[in-house]
This record gives sequence, C-alpha cells and structure tokens, in this order.
Amino acid sequence: MEKLIIKGGARLIGEVEVSGSKNAVLPIMAAALLSEGESIIENVPDLWDVQTMVRLIRSLGAKAILENGVLKIRPGNNLKPFAPYKLVKTMRASVCVLGPLLARLGEAEVSLPGGCAIGPRPIDLHLKGLEALGAEIEIDHGYVRTKAKKSLRGTEIYLGGGYGSSVLATDNVLMAAVLAAGRTVIENAACEPEVVDLANFLRKMGAKIQGDGSPRIEVEGVKKLRGVSYRVIPDRIEAGTYMFGAAITNGDVLIRKMEPAHLNAVIDKLHQAGMKVEKYKNAVRVKRTGKLRPVDVTTLPYPAFPTDLQAQAMALMTVTPGISIITEKIYPNRFMHVPELGRMGAKIFLEGASAIVHGVKKLSGAPVMASDLRASAALVLAALVAQGETEVQRIYHLDRGYENLEMKLNSLGAQVRREKE
Ligand code: EPU
Repeated sequence: MEKLIIKGGARLIGEVEVSGSKNAVLPIMAAALLSEGESIIENVPDLWDVQTMVRLIRSLGAKAILENGVLKIRPGNNLKPFAPYKLVKTMRASVCVLGPLLARLGEAEVSLPGGCAIGPRPIDLHLKGLEALGAEIEIDHGYVRTKAKKSLRGTEIYLGGGYGSSVLATDNVLMAAVLAAGRTVIENAACEPEVVDLANFLRKMGAKIQGDGSPRIEVEGVKKLRGVSYRVIPDRIEAGTYMFGAAITNGDVLIRKMEPAHLNAVIDKLHQAGMKVEKYKNAVRVKRTGKLRPVDVTTLPYPAFPTDLQAQAMALMTVTPGISIITEKIYPNRFMHVPELGRMGAKIFLEGASAIVHGVKKLSGAPVMASDLRASAALVLAALVAQGETEVQRIYHLDRGYENLEMKLNSLGAQVRREKE
C-alpha cells in the first residue's frame, strides 16, 4: 500500500488541466458492448476504476486496449453474460454492464455490488427499470440473474422511489431501452452531465434518444448499433476539487480543459465563500479576494451541489471563520472524513445527515486514513493548509478517481510525495 506525505503551507498557484470524467467513461465503456464493432473512446483517464472496467469488459469476452488516453473496445459477437463478484465488488459502477448485456444477449448475470464506505447503495431502481422493459429478475447466491422473457419491449417507467433520481439506474435502463422494441419513456431520470454524455455516445452509435439532461428521457428502440469514435467530457468533480484547492490555500489557479457550466452550483458557493471565480470557455480561474466567509451547502442531484464535492467543501469550511453547515441529501452517512479531519484539529459536529463545521484558526498535520475516494481528496486539501506534515494512508482510494493527483498539485507549488506504507 502507498501513502501521500504532504507538507502544508504552500499556496496553489498556476495552471492545471482536468482529465476525462471517470463517472462518464465507466458507463460509456459498458455502452460500447451494445455493438459488435469497435468503439474508440478518447480523453480516458488512467485510473484504477477504468482499469477495473477494462478487466471486466475483457472477462466478458470483448477486446479492450487503453493506450495514452485512448481506449479501443471491440465487443465482437461472442460476449459472455457473466460479471463475477471478484471484479464487481471492487467497483460499484460494474453494475452498469447489466443493461447492455441484457439488451445484446437477452440475459445477464451480474454480482450484487455489496457494501460501500459511503453508506448503503441499493440497486432496486436498476432492477425496477429493467423489469418494466420485460426482464425476469432473480437474486440468487449474491448474483442478479436477468433474462428477457421474449425480447425487451419499450414502456413508460417511473424511475424513482422515496428519494431523488439515480444516475447509474438511469444509465442502465437507457442502455437496455435503446435496443428494446418500441418506445420507452424514463420519468424521474437523472439529469447529470454524465447521463447526457452517455446519451450522446449512444446517439452517435445510432440510438434514438431525446430529453436527456431533463427528468424525462424518451427512447425509440433500434435493431442494431454501430461502434463509433467518441471523446468523453471533462471530470467536473476533479475540476471542483482543484477549485477548492485554490480556495483553501489562498491560491490563484487557472483550471483548464473543463466545462464551467457543469459546476454552476459550486461556483455560486465559492462566490459566497469569498472567492473570485472567473469563467472562460473551457476554464475557470479561482482566487481569493478577501477573507473566507462561512456558507451552508446542501447536496442534491444535478444541477444542485454534488455529493462528490461535499467532503472537499467541508475541508474548506474547517478553516473558514464562523459556522458552516453541510446537509448531505444523497448519502446521509457520507461523513467518514469527519473523524479524520478531527484528527487534524477540525471542529465538526454531526447531527443526523448534517455536519456543523466551526472554523478553526489552524489545522495541524497528522497521520490520517483515507476511507473513500472523495473523503481522501478532502484530507489532501486539508493537508495542504495544515501546519507540518500530514500522512494520508490508503491512497488507493485516490488512485481510483484522480489521475496524477500529486503531479498536478506539485506543478501548482504543493509539496506532496508518494511513499510505500
Ligand atoms: N438509490 C437507491 N436505489 C437504487 C439506486 C440508487 O435507493 O437503485 C439511491 C442511493 O442510495 C442514493 C441515491 O439513490 O441515495 C443516488 O444514488 P445514485 O444511484 O445516483 O448513485 P450511483 O449512480 O450509484 C453515481 C456516481 C457516484 C455519485 C452518485 C451521485 C458513478 C460511477 N458513480 O453513483 O460517484 O456519488 O452517482 O451523484 O457514476 C464518486 O465518484 O465518488 C461517486 C461515489
């Protein structure tokens, strides 16, 4: 295992480029399975999660090669409908091969993903949607077995329960619907940019989809799709993480190769927190103009503030004078970073799904443990301003979702090194 040693105190200054979106590319890789022919996907970040998906796709019988950010997937016509536990358990997004396998092969057997550090993450909505399209579903020995009764048939689906929408459930149902007979309407669809990116990829393959980016997606099923070339959108969460990095270190950073429109809620909060955020076509410049001000943040589905930046926002609040409140509406237990930030001197009180953060004058470096991807990012941000050295252990979580993190931070003036634990 490896750890990061971070010497706090440097301001982040300069320019940084954002990589392709992890959460867009993973479903797109699964969608590539919908054709026999080769798809060439560009702007693919070299991350553990992407490597896991490559292994999964190969285990299903497709060819997949990732070189210099370009991923070639050739599914061919000998796909196997089986996704084993050993691959699915390491990455929940593996569950999005369910829809494409069912659509192409008429059956799929995919391991249930199991537990996760950010709280329970059921897949009932995925199954509800696929069932509505005509799949028979059975849960057996930890696996979901689905089989299309005859062929999948389009229908109207309300993809909701007692909460908001689900990103990967929308993806899964969309990927099954594009090859189903007739018209499918997905109501309460997730509106995240990653869903729109998947729809754009599917449209290029020949799918007929309308309304993506809104809560109502309409699909007219087609018989066959073709392999295509496609460029994945930039990672809005990586971009947002560097924005909080500039804010917490009193820095001045131009974040390039990103889409500012995907981060309006975050930019709004950073303004309220006392940052100047200049928007350009594919970049933002973030710098501090005066004192930091406390803000309240509630995470909700897009276009509201994303749960995947909650921990990073909290890192900033720990050193913002006054009281800030975070309410987590997507994953009410996603607060594993709180005790670790506490070890660095942060004053945070948990009250149900809310965290009340009392800003402190300084954080101090300490050994801390990463628990999930975004919690780890928050610990790194806190370490950048902490006095002395912080050791962030178990950084394989970070390697799942941030490409070249320490290299990018060091190019902005941070002092971060990687060591074996
Ligand atoms: N939910 C259900 N039933 C379902 C599906 C979801 O109850 O069948 C609930 C979840 O428990 C949660 C809420 O719905 O309370 C939203 O979860 P969602 O399904 O949207 O999450 P996801 O699609 O599994 C993706 C991202 C997550 C991100 C969430 C929310 C990928 C690969 N993962 O997960 O990303 O937090 O959307 O935006 O796209 C991360 O990158 O660190 C990460 C966790």
